[in-house]
Amino acid sequence: MKNIEIITTQDGSIGLYNKILNEIYHSKEGAKKEAFEKFVMPCLILNKKALKILDICYGIGYNTKCAIENFNSIQLIDCVETDTELAKKSHKFEYKSSKNINKIIEKNLKNPDFIHFYFNDIRKIIKKINKKYDIIFHDGFAPHKQSELWSEDLISEIIKKLDKNGLYCTYNHSKPVLNALLKTGITIGKTIKENRIIGTVASFNSDLIQNPLNNFELGMLNTKSAITYRDKNLDLKHEEIVKQRNNQIKNSTLETLSHYLKKN
Ligand SMILES: C[S@@+](CC[C@H](N)C(=O)[O-])C[C@H]1O[C@@H](n2cnc3c(N)ncnc32)[C@H](O)[C@@H]1O
Repeated sequence: MKNIEIITTQDGSIGLYNKILNEIYHSKEGAKKEAFEKFVMPCLILNKKALKILDICYGIGYNTKCAIENFNSIQLIDCVETDTELAKKSHKFEYKSSKNINKIIEKNLKNPDFIHFYFNDIRKIIKKINKKYDIIFHDGFAPHKQSELWSEDLISEIIKKLDKNGLYCTYNHSKPVLNALLKTGITIGKTIKENRIIGTVASFNSDLIQNPLNNFELGMLNTKSAITYRDKNLDLKHEEIVKQRNNQIKNSTLETLSHYLKKN
């Protein structure tokens, strides 16, 4: 925890700041609010019993905690996090709720019952997971800091673990990520709050997508700005991935986003 600073976010919940990456873990508008609005709320449309959830980039577990708070029908939650020390302290970070969520987390950290922790790099374990999930949360640091968490290759593997009636949720609405999702054949939607896009949801069942990307937005994914991050063997460093993408953009004959926007 020595490179992590604790901050208070605008909804009063605790957030974290990573000094090495110069990056926040949670929205300044509210860590707890973000978990609900961007991750859990879009999934409330699911009324399936025995939900299976995959929480990628668990951190201190806001998304898992918020899911436990809002669903009564969870069968299992698999959480993936590289920072073992942080995740093992996650129950110590206040989470205000009528349910004693931190007690549930603490119990499962010691003695896994329905929550299982993979203290590993998602890239190393995603292919080994032999399950389909109803809900997948994807909450990595932003692509300009950790592009390896958003490559077309990783997203394709993640989406293979999504049930055909399941939902994938992320705060990320960047074009390379939307394009990576599009290539999997999934229907992509916007998470909207007060006329503002705050995240992305995706499903193979288009009935579950309330605000699908429109033709104009889909058109933007055919421009240079939507060229995806590539990490074929899921082992490249962030810098290598960015360099490779920059070269691809330089050599691409695709239309630029600004040209597309002027035209449409
Ligand atoms: C934006 S924070 C996630 C916040 C988290 N969902 C929460 O509620 O606290 C990103 C997290 O991803 C973790 N992480 C970074 N690289 C990872 C990787 N390759 N595999 C799994 N987790 C990773 C970081 O340690 C960090 O905790």
